[in-house]
Amino acid sequence: MATILETQSLTKKFGGFTAVDEVSFNVQQGEIRFLIGPNGAGKSTFFKLIIGNHEPNSGTILFKNLNIEKLKMYERIKLGMGVKFQTPSVFSELTVLENLNLANNLNQLINIENVLKDFSLVNEINILAGDLSHGKKQWLDIALATLSKPELVFLDEPTAGLSFEETEKTSEIVKKLNKQGITFVIVGHDMDFVKQTASKVSVLHLGKIFFEGSVSEVLSNNGVNDIYLGIS
Ligand SMILES: Nc1ncnc2c1ncn2[C@@H]1O[C@H](COP(=O)(O)OP(=O)(O)OP(=O)(O)O)[C@@H](O)[C@H]1O
Ligand SMILES: [Mg+2]
Repeated sequence: MATILETQSLTKKFGGFTAVDEVSFNVQQGEIRFLIGPNGAGKSTFFKLIIGNHEPNSGTILFKNLNIEKLKMYERIKLGMGVKFQTPSVFSELTVLENLNLANNLNQLINIENVLKDFSLVNEINILAGDLSHGKKQWLDIALATLSKPELVFLDEPTAGLSFEETEKTSEIVKKLNKQGITFVIVGHDMDFVKQTASKVSVLHLGKIFFEGSVSEVLSNNGVNDIYLGIS
């Protein structure tokens, strides 16, 4: 499998504080990669560097072997990245269908009926997005981020505040989209969701990659357990 995303010694400082410290990271096409780690580990900062919300102090980011660290977020999206932020960015005053049609206005080939089915939104088609349950709002937001079938999609904490059943459904949605060819990088805290979904996990701690491996390798690593319990 080809490498779709690679960072080399990526560093971000805030004043004298190094939030992301020379991180070299790579994701292969077809993965569902999770980025986990305790509060303040640097996950969101790393996420923002990759999507173009922050400028790195040093280091490079390669997307499909192209240097993108100087590009604006919209330029990265044009190259084939999709983003779902932690807070849903659906248009509350538009219906579910209007939101989907707006995201689809350049691409006539998408079958909205199938999208509604895949995201369990068939019965909500004419409901205002602002009136959806938190879970369905998250699914609509994921639908909007993936509608144009970007090659690499970033999700920030997509199951925060969801029930166990909603989390399972979100996992099914992500795995189905992955089978359709989308590679994912997901920032998360929710270990149920990680277990149900991840193909590989990277653990960030104090701005560095602390450990990488399969879900079972991460769960059985004593060092990872320690940093989550705040021992080291
Ligand atoms: N804009 C900023 N200015 C100054 N410091 C920042 C800024 N953004 C993040 N930091 C600091 O960088 C460190 C990493 O923050 P970051 O938000 O990346 O962590 P995180 O792993 O996403 O944590 P959480 O799990 O709480 O979301 C923290 O110590 C945070 O206070
Ligand atoms: Mg964060």
